[in-house]
Amino acid sequence: MTVEEKEIPWSVYWAADRIHSCVAEDQQNDQGLLNKVWQDFAKKAVSGAQMIDLATGNGAVPLAMLSARTDLDLSGIDRASIDPSKYVSDRPELKQVKFYPNTDINDLGILDKRFDAVTSQFGIEYAGLHETIGAVSSNLKSLGELLFLIHHDQSNVITSSKSKVTEMKELLEPNGLVETVFSFLRREIEFSVLESSGQGFLDNSANYSEAVTGQIFSAIEQIVNTAQTNLSGSLEMAKTVKFKLSAEKQRLEQMIQSAQSKEEMNSYKNLLEGNGFVVKSLEPFYADDDYLLGWLLSARLDS
Ligand SMILES: C[S@@+](CC[C@H](N)C(=O)[O-])C[C@H]1O[C@@H](n2cnc3c(N)ncnc32)[C@H](O)[C@@H]1O
Repeated sequence: MTVEEKEIPWSVYWAADRIHSCVAEDQQNDQGLLNKVWQDFAKKAVSGAQMIDLATGNGAVPLAMLSARTDLDLSGIDRASIDPSKYVSDRPELKQVKFYPNTDINDLGILDKRFDAVTSQFGIEYAGLHETIGAVSSNLKSLGELLFLIHHDQSNVITSSKSKVTEMKELLEPNGLVETVFSFLRREIEFSVLESSGQGFLDNSANYSEAVTGQIFSAIEQIVNTAQTNLSGSLEMAKTVKFKLSAEKQRLEQMIQSAQSKEEMNSYKNLLEGNGFVVKSLEPFYADDDYLLGWLLSARLDS
């Protein structure tokens, strides 16, 4: 997959009125806990500190920091075509953040600036922890701070993403339900064949979820209804559903691939220490006793 293809699922994802990506929008508690991490970090920064959030998405981290401090000089970069002020509603404070879309972490040098702090929430691991060490260390001021929240390979979001990907793959198979919808719209099969394919999917799929299959079934119902009066419109709807489902599958696959084991985090800790950092803490981060959100890593550049 090319770099451009990897960006597509995230550009699609961020072109919507949403702030979070790896915490369910209805999990206020988890979002609150993550926000507190960044608020506490922001409170410790010097006045006017220049801080950059790597792989920022729609700016969840800068937004959390701004809720604690308004005097910080905040920037955010992302390789996707982000435009948070355009897509996120009711957050005028996003205008205070300098966002750099279509910018890879490894191209941080083009900002030609050294920062007091560098942050990342479920971001840097997508670019590769070892691959970005040069960019991270060379764009921090001496004594600059680093705080990263990183996907944990045992976290709940990774486990649930794995079963969603299996479900999506099943739906998108060459003879799967999505392609059967196209066959129906091209008049290659009768409605009864589409119906029994849907029933077969429900009977045989071990991975049914309301969030994935449930949504696809309601979309198919709309497509089939539209086909009665507007065949070309229903074909367009089917193409959009397939595109969005494929993009979401790719997004979750990237998330799973980026998750880090304990050994990988220890290896990253050694790498940081070998590059002039003092690692202050490296701990699993829990929302409550058994709900694992990720790894929290805090370090300072000492050289
Ligand atoms: C899980 S999202 C996290 C977004 C945000 N930090 C948050 O917590 O909502 C991962 C982000 O990493 C970005 N990304 C992946 N590889 C990147 C790279 N090499 N350089 C910059 N951004 C990258 C993706 O575009 C995506 O927006």
